[in-house]
Amino acid sequence: MIPTAMRAAYITATGPAESIRVGELPVPRPGPTDVLVRTTVTAVNHVDTFVRSGSYRTPLSFPFVIGRDLVGEVVEAGPGAAGFGVGDLVWCNSLGHGGRQGSFAEYAVVSAERLYHLPGGVDPDLAVSLLHPAATAHLALFREAGLCPGETVVVGGGAGGVGGALVQLAHLSGARVIATASGRDAQWCRDLGADVVIDYADPAASSRIREAAPDGVDVHVDTSGHHDLETTLGLMARGGRVVVLAGRDAGARLPIGALYTADRSIRGFVISNAAASDLATAARALNVLLAAGRLRSRIALTLPLAEAARAHLLLEHPDPALPRGRVLVRP
Ligand SMILES: NC(=O)c1ccc[n+]([C@@H]2O[C@H](COP(=O)([O-])OP(=O)(O)OC[C@H]3O[C@@H](n4cnc5c(N)ncnc54)[C@H](OP(=O)(O)O)[C@@H]3O)[C@@H](O)[C@H]2O)c1
Repeated sequence: MIPTAMRAAYITATGPAESIRVGELPVPRPGPTDVLVRTTVTAVNHVDTFVRSGSYRTPLSFPFVIGRDLVGEVVEAGPGAAGFGVGDLVWCNSLGHGGRQGSFAEYAVVSAERLYHLPGGVDPDLAVSLLHPAATAHLALFREAGLCPGETVVVGGGAGGVGGALVQLAHLSGARVIATASGRDAQWCRDLGADVVIDYADPAASSRIREAAPDGVDVHVDTSGHHDLETTLGLMARGGRVVVLAGRDAGARLPIGALYTADRSIRGFVISNAAASDLATAARALNVLLAAGRLRSRIALTLPLAEAARAHLLLEHPDPALPRGRVLVRP
């Protein structure tokens, strides 16, 4: 029996984390090609804070349920939602923007084309901690950069959510991975498959990258939001690809000669613009790796829905006393 009301974390206008309310909203009704999912667990991503604050402009209708990711169980499937049945374990990583309501609620409506089965035996917490970062990493490495086995990749911020996924996916695809991270995260990056880890606080970090990649870097992805394109392009091989996906307020000088005289390119992308077909391609790849137990992540803590605002605050103002890793929210 599906109830008519549910607990949800929502906003009535964009604003600070404190504007998040937790209370009752009607359970949404699925359309013919939609699925109603009972949420098992969600995760908080930086983009959720941008949508909530209004700094990332996207169509919202209020009250707006926050949150992008979920793992859950199908409780109702529309007649046109082929392939989904009651009781199926599923996941989604594209709610909470583009006119879609979010995932921080007991129930969420998901369009069938944005919903994927969770492979049997996969821990929902592990999965949800990887959905947004690993799909981002997949699109960055393979759609944007066209990464090939044997190429050298630099991952800036290799211990973060997206960075850790970039390290793993690049390594598993047969690339050589150089990651930058703080010293306390060096072993974690190695555990994920980084061949070389360089402390980002080392003033000679770029020289260390040059030593580690004397023939040049083929693909460079920085997740920290720091951009020094003059230094980065100086490290790249001919035909090297720089993917820019973080650092919305950063400025950088672009050395034109270093770009075009060596056939290099810079690609910007945001997963929020990805077509459902691109998301589905990434989802298939992630499901194969999840099913094979090939992906890892760190979970710092899991909060109840009532602490949704705290989850956002922890991303905006990290607490150094907490363990490293993702923040999950369990409705
Ligand atoms: N374009 C897209 O589609 C897309 C999708 C997802 C995320 N993003 C963006 O990607 C960024 C990363 O997201 P996330 O979830 O991975 O965040 P995160 O988990 O906070 O990771 C950021 C990492 O960067 C590291 N870092 C900080 N300063 C650094 C420096 N100077 N050099 C190298 N690394 C440094 C951090 O290390 P410390 O902990 O030691 O500070 C942390 O490990 C965010 O800006 C997010 O909005 C973009």
